[in-house]
Amino acid sequence: MHVMVVNTKAYREGMGNEAIKIAKIMEKVGKETGIRMIIAVQHADVHRVASNVEIDVFAQHIDAIEYGSHTGWILAEGLKEAGAGGSIINHSEHPVTINEIKRSVEILRKNKMESIVCASDNEIAKSVAVFQPDYVAVEPPELIGGDISVTKTKPSVVKNAVESVRKVSNSAVLCGAGIKNGEDVRKAIELGSSGILVASGVVKAKNKEKIIMEMASAMVE
Ligand code: G3P
Repeated sequence: MHVMVVNTKAYREGMGNEAIKIAKIMEKVGKETGIRMIIAVQHADVHRVASNVEIDVFAQHIDAIEYGSHTGWILAEGLKEAGAGGSIINHSEHPVTINEIKRSVEILRKNKMESIVCASDNEIAKSVAVFQPDYVAVEPPELIGGDISVTKTKPSVVKNAVESVRKVSNSAVLCGAGIKNGEDVRKAIELGSSGILVASGVVKAKNKEKIIMEMASAMVE
């Protein structure tokens, strides 16, 4: 099943009640199109968003820790109790070591939570795929937040990541960075992605329902 992941980052337009509004639109569009919707929100928003919608709510990061004396660190078990179904790991705005990626995937799996591990290129995608996360998301950092999508500028990165990951794992591949419209999404699917990881194109859009519908519809055509 194709998936649309919206990462609200720390954008003002994606926090608190705004995160709930985006999640509700995603829920509605998800029902209409049949596309799986995941919203990755600030930790502080996990509980309130998960209490208001049925779509999957993910965290944007977890720490590779177990219960214990870890002041200020993010525990997967706590997120699960708050309503999170999974987490992004190793986003280029929150990179962690390869060992922490491995541990985080294991911790999420142990808690029956899903993992989306980010990779900046094809080689890293392959290296993290061996940990068998649910998703590997390839995102060239220099294109993140910009207006030109990875699918237009670096289609080979997506294509190669899909091929490399397939060799070592069953993880589904997502792509992201600069995705702004249905055409970018259509191309992502053509290149072999199972879906997209998008932030500014949705969170900063004036008409969020219109763009979420446009992007989701491009995955069903
Ligand atoms: O996590 C998704 C993200 O890094 C892509 O950001 O703003 O280019 O859609 P954006």
